[in-house]
Amino acid sequence: MVSVINSCLATGAVEINILDAGCGDGVLMALLSQLLPKLNDKLVVNIFGFDVCDSQVQGTGYFGKTIKLLTDEVPGINWEMRLRQIKSTDRWPYEGKFFDFVVSNQVLEHVSDHAFFFSEISRVLKDDGRGIHLFPLKDCWHEGHINVPFSHWITDRRIMYSYIYMASLLGMGKYRAHKRADVNLTRSQYCIRHTDYILFNTNYISHDELAIVAKRNGLAISFGFTHWLFINKLRSLLSFRLRYKMVNSSALTIFLFWIMKRITSVTLVMDKQNTYRQELTGHQVAPEKTG
Ligand SMILES: C[S@@+](CC[C@H](N)C(=O)[O-])C[C@H]1O[C@@H](n2cnc3c(N)ncnc32)[C@H](O)[C@@H]1O
Repeated sequence: MVSVINSCLATGAVEINILDAGCGDGVLMALLSQLLPKLNDKLVVNIFGFDVCDSQVQGTGYFGKTIKLLTDEVPGINWEMRLRQIKSTDRWPYEGKFFDFVVSNQVLEHVSDHAFFFSEISRVLKDDGRGIHLFPLKDCWHEGHINVPFSHWITDRRIMYSYIYMASLLGMGKYRAHKRADVNLTRSQYCIRHTDYILFNTNYISHDELAIVAKRNGLAISFGFTHWLFINKLRSLLSFRLRYKMVNSSALTIFLFWIMKRITSVTLVMDKQNTYRQELTGHQVAPEKTG
């Protein structure tokens, strides 16, 4: 995320506002606060974050820990002011066109109302602002929360339960690890809990659905950074320097993205800037004379 934002920074930027939507434990906010100014001499980075209190993804009281972590890791900032906790149906507590970047990490697969989430992103982004989001699409075969492939494609509770049960008999999923932690846990209890986790706490969006919701909210999507994860994995194995760069699509990058969206998280970039609209406002057409 740090590298992607760094690659997207406008040349000569002196101060930027970043919002981490669904900030969780605050680790990403701490990283951005520490690393971006190091990478860009004299750049002032103002980081804000919020999370929701009704998603049931986090345990109770986690937000106090987020404030503590950030206060310890990045002292000198009033994190009580910079962090907010809201309901998922609330409007985000920021004025319009305030942020240069809205980012999120592993959040979009948990958001219950993507249309509302994207409309808030569009509202709080500056006209040339960008959203950058790391998350798995519905197209992904793997379900990373319970480790049972394709389980997130099933919509019927009983079928999902049976599928997870069968998978656990074949050694898939996390039943053995959970059993070690709680010897009284039966296989059925484990399977119904995990079924309900996927049904109630996740809401995967497909590539096609995402394109439609983003467009309706004035955001243009692209995945031009996704393949760098793959390329950089190879580079790090071969001990080369890592780099991130948005590239114009070539047949190879389109192919890599087509594979990657099925096996891992993607890097979504959403642009609010519409150069055509700007052109229109710059060159007003004179109204026709009447009478
Ligand atoms: C897997 S956690 C990721 C947390 C954090 N971004 C990280 O990288 O560790 C998913 C987060 O999404 C948040 N979330 C779920 N629905 C949300 C919504 N509608 N708006 C904002 N955050 C949401 C949850 O509260 C949770 O903190």
